[in-house]
Amino acid sequence: MEYGPAPEDPKEALSWLDRHNRRFGHFINGAWAEPSAKQYFDTSDPSTGDKLASVGQGSAADIDAAVKAARAALPGWQALSPHSRSRYLYALARQVQKHSRLFAVLETMDNGKPIRESRDIDIPLVARHFYYHAGWAQLLPQEFPDYSACGVIGQIIPWNFPLLMLAWKIAPALATGNTVVLKPAEFTPLTALAFAGICQEIGLPAGVVNIVTGDGATGEALVKHSDVDKIAFTGSTEVGRAIRNATAQSHKKLSLELGGKSPFIVFEDADLDSVVEGLVDGIWFNQGQVCCAGSRLLMQESIAEPLLMRIRDRMSTLRAGSPLDKAIDIGAIVARVQLDRIQRLVNQGIAEGATCWQPQIELPSRGLFFPPTLLSNVHPTSIVAQQEIFGPVLAAMTFRTPQEAVELANNTVYGLASCVWSENLNVALHVAAQIKAGVVWVNCTNLFDAACGFGGYRESGYGREGGREGLLEYLEPAWFKNAPALPASTASTGELPEEESDTAAPAIDRTIKLYIGGKQARPDSGYSMQVRGRDGESLGEVPLGNRKDIRNAVEAARKASGWAKASAHNRAQVLYYMAENLSQRGDEVGRRLAQAVGEPQAKAEVNAGIERIFSYAAWADKFDGAVHNPPFRNIAIAMNEPIGTVAILCPREAPLLGLISVVMPVLAMGNTTVVVPSEMYPLITGDLYQLLDTSDLPGGAVNIVTGYQSQLLKILAEHDDVDAIWSFGDEASATAAKALSTGNLKQVFTNEGRAIDWFDVKQGEGRWFLEHATQVKNIWVPYGE
Ligand code: NAI
Repeated sequence: MEYGPAPEDPKEALSWLDRHNRRFGHFINGAWAEPSAKQYFDTSDPSTGDKLASVGQGSAADIDAAVKAARAALPGWQALSPHSRSRYLYALARQVQKHSRLFAVLETMDNGKPIRESRDIDIPLVARHFYYHAGWAQLLPQEFPDYSACGVIGQIIPWNFPLLMLAWKIAPALATGNTVVLKPAEFTPLTALAFAGICQEIGLPAGVVNIVTGDGATGEALVKHSDVDKIAFTGSTEVGRAIRNATAQSHKKLSLELGGKSPFIVFEDADLDSVVEGLVDGIWFNQGQVCCAGSRLLMQESIAEPLLMRIRDRMSTLRAGSPLDKAIDIGAIVARVQLDRIQRLVNQGIAEGATCWQPQIELPSRGLFFPPTLLSNVHPTSIVAQQEIFGPVLAAMTFRTPQEAVELANNTVYGLASCVWSENLNVALHVAAQIKAGVVWVNCTNLFDAACGFGGYRESGYGREGGREGLLEYLEPAWFKNAPALPASTASTGELPEEESDTAAPAIDRTIKLYIGGKQARPDSGYSMQVRGRDGESLGEVPLGNRKDIRNAVEAARKASGWAKASAHNRAQVLYYMAENLSQRGDEVGRRLAQAVGEPQAKAEVNAGIERIFSYAAWADKFDGAVHNPPFRNIAIAMNEPIGTVAILCPREAPLLGLISVVMPVLAMGNTTVVVPSEMYPLITGDLYQLLDTSDLPGGAVNIVTGYQSQLLKILAEHDDVDAIWSFGDEASATAAKALSTGNLKQVFTNEGRAIDWFDVKQGEGRWFLEHATQVKNIWVPYGE
């Protein structure tokens, strides 16, 4: 039986375009505004090449007007009751549903995606996102009592899920009391402009949502605007890195949802029929222009051939055609540049040895189309196994054992998503735990829900969208905004001395070594730094660690990754024991610390330090995840996983308590760490060695390198095996931590140069630290089928 065409009628969408004379300005302060430079660009239907409308090219002046409107709207928006804000979000959800067909058709015309997908997936998920966050707006004061909104948010989105990405950005931002300026992608601005229309219809207060259209230059102006408090970006890793660079010098909070090269792992006991249908959704959904597309097929060797045969059969039944035809599977590629990029990468893959197979299916003669493509015999180092193609191209490889599958799966700089197919739940969950990715779908693929956080590990970015963790991206501790700035640190030059230092120094009363891999270690440099007391007297010397010491420390930390596998109960026991040890040696530690900070502070630091270690021992087995109930027959298990190796630059104000406050949450969550103690009194670490030695902590879980913080920060920030940087110095060190670590897009947690009262439990302890010591992995598992 042959399918006949079942075209969706575009009449409503065309008349909507006509009502706007096919020409759109920006949506600023609740009204349409002509672009200040009076420049427009065209947006067209990629399946026909027909122009749909002219859209304003946003200038820096337009961005400035939008940011000013968002800033002016902020107090009024925040003064509303949570219930009122919730009602606005609810109204947006209702309005999206009421106009769902208009949105779906417009999206399909502007983007080229099949109407079946925009109608059945994109737009229902948009509505779901606003409903879900309407609920959060209502519950915010009860559930996040100690947090407040960031302020004005700049949001930049891509073209692959235009309205859905808008919803992922705007709904949590508004629910948490922020106002926004959003820039849609230049290829697909129309549904964002239609959304502006419903903001007007529901009477959303002017300035709460502003939409400025334009290209990368418009995005850049938004990123650089000095009155934006946070940037949320989804798009390519390359632009994400540029944004990270551009925001490093500021206090802007940043979340990045970047590219992926997600593995789709099939074990020999998988249900192959389901696998093949899963692949259709995994790589041919939205023509493969999906950041979490299952673009790397990893097949257990024994089933590779039969699976490839079934895949080829299924590919031959895929229908490409007009995206508005309800009976097609493959629509158009968004733009000529993207089509060329796909072809270029496929050619390169073939040149590198891949076998290319494409079904003999008909492609429309007009428009931008690319056939579904299977590349087999792909070498794991080939460009098509490593780079995001963002097209309907599947790269297939084989593996023999589960261990090899995990190694291949993790052999990428990305870590956005993954699929595991096996009828053996033990195998599937064993592998899921080892994959470094923010989402793992077990026997399913490409499922999304507002309740389940989505986002990456490694160079796929950081921050989550959806769920409780997604809200945290738009919140900060209420006390933090007004915390006073720390004075600029004058203690260090960050330079190694020209000559062997301090050889003529007065008698040394105390010398310590570095602590690497569970042992005290002689430093490589042969230089040391004098530590002075409050009255300028010499208290002793500490080694000046250098690049080699850091390299050794990072290597030791990587080797101690078994700490992550220790049970939370076990980690708690180790921390309790440390607290007990400090308690026994408290007087002695306090006496020495008193030479640097005076007796009252020393005593207080010891006492608060013991309590803080206890607290994190308590948290170790309580800061656990959640089980979400998305509206499908699945559960999503949200696991708080450690980030990996975290480099920590300790605060100088409280040499002991500060160190404990930043090291213990990192340890409690199963990370390993390289610690650079405060320059004010690094000798304190000498007292900790014994504590660490006798605590059952595996060697290498904590490594301590003393020296100039600014110098060691640079080495740590540039080290690719360090996964995150925590820096609690002055403003310059916060900036340096962000700027120097853009290479592998490390997660950075800093005090932004502000003073934290380490004695105050609300400021110096708890969830804020634990949230930064973990990343959420959502494992989707079929349930109740
Ligand atoms: P892109 O990253 O350039 O564009 C995404 C958004 O960022 C757009 O709104 C764009 O106008 C804006 N932008 C571009 N340069 C900017 C800058 N310097 N500062 C601020 N904003 C800027 O992505 P593009 O060029 O559209 O696609 C290129 C490749 O990126 C694709 O082939 C694909 O591999 C990847 N990509 C990944 C996405 C994802 O969701 N992970 C989404 C879109 C593209």
